[in-house]
Amino acid sequence: MTPRTEEAPVTFSAMWRDLTPVGRDGKSGGYHRFAWTREDHTLREWFEGEARRRGLDVTVDRVGNQWAWWGDPDGALAAGRPGIVTGSHLDSVPDGGAFDGPLGVVSAFAALDALRDRGFEPDRPIGIVNFVDEEGARFGVACAGSRVLTGAMTADRARSLTDSDGLSMAEALTAAGRSAEDLGPDSETVRRIGTFVELHVEQGRHLSALDENVPVAVGSDIWPHGRWRIRTLGEANHAGTTRLEDREDAMLGFAAAVIAARRAAESHGCVATVGKVAVTPGGVNAIPSEVTGWLDARGADEAAVRAVVADVTEVVDDFGGLVVEDSWTGSTPFDPGLARRIATRLGGIPVIGTGAGHDAGILANAGVPTAMLFVRNPTGISHSPEEFATSEDCLAGVDALASVLTDLAGG
Ligand code: GLV
Ligand code: MN
Ligand code: MN
Ligand code: MN
Repeated sequence: MTPRTEEAPVTFSAMWRDLTPVGRDGKSGGYHRFAWTREDHTLREWFEGEARRRGLDVTVDRVGNQWAWWGDPDGALAAGRPGIVTGSHLDSVPDGGAFDGPLGVVSAFAALDALRDRGFEPDRPIGIVNFVDEEGARFGVACAGSRVLTGAMTADRARSLTDSDGLSMAEALTAAGRSAEDLGPDSETVRRIGTFVELHVEQGRHLSALDENVPVAVGSDIWPHGRWRIRTLGEANHAGTTRLEDREDAMLGFAAAVIAARRAAESHGCVATVGKVAVTPGGVNAIPSEVTGWLDARGADEAAVRAVVADVTEVVDDFGGLVVEDSWTGSTPFDPGLARRIATRLGGIPVIGTGAGHDAGILANAGVPTAMLFVRNPTGISHSPEEFATSEDCLAGVDALASVLTDLAGG
């Protein structure tokens, strides 16, 4: 992306240009950047390079999240002035967009550059983070990096999660040259975060639907959401020679579950998605012996989301299948005082909620004062190669973040 404004910080476009090719599918234009893969390694090297080039101190916590510090976070903590941290993630969903995650990390470096250009001297250290495995695209649990960091997911559970090749996270960590035994909560790292502000592309059309020209909003809360694994069983047999009455077709129960999810979402005022399915044996001419799929359900109200899952479970039960919870994040309000302070500082910008999960939500639930900034997305499309934000809006996001950091780190 080439910023179109004259005053564009050179750093933003240079960073964006360097990131663009990593994990990009030449045909779709979408990204495949999954935790602890070669692409992820390249992204992590990029992060470290950007940090070192700025003279920041780079640390990696027990989970593998990367931190780059301007100032001494431990000295400041001892003095009762814990740091202000910003950043996001660099991984993607399968065939994801360019902005979900990277925009927050690139903007963090660009905002820091802007502060330094102005001669700003922070009273608190400023940190930039790259959370590992935010999307959970490989091992199934979203925000794995921040969940293990804060203890919201145990290290044992994380280690045992498997990818679609049956490789465990422990094995993937080892293959990436990290110790799987080291994985665990890291309260020392969490304590350094006095306040966390994550900038993210908006995943919806709240801002673009406004009559006024407002490129940035502040987050109020994240909807309750979770992932459940649906498993139905049957018996593999020949598609041509097995009479209908003799079949045990795992797909029938699974298909009923998908329809039930849609109906339950409609009747309980939620959203529900089955976007990933694995069929065994997976032959066009074989009756499925097993179907595993992932239900993603979200809504404004926790009880309503639970009701959706209960409805689906009832249908799956009828077919002798199983629904197992993979992850659950309850209603997550961001710090309301912080949101108000940011909205006011940025000229009374809107405060909006979201149905998307973020590491910011995991930190908020761990008691860290947390806020989010959303950058306008003209179509609202996300988790797709079509995801977009204009250069002007991205740079407005950098300006907003720089202003927030000035306020929060300025003493
Ligand atoms: C992560 O981006 C999610 O909300 O699914
Ligand atoms: Mn995402
Ligand atoms: Mn994201
Ligand atoms: Mn997310």
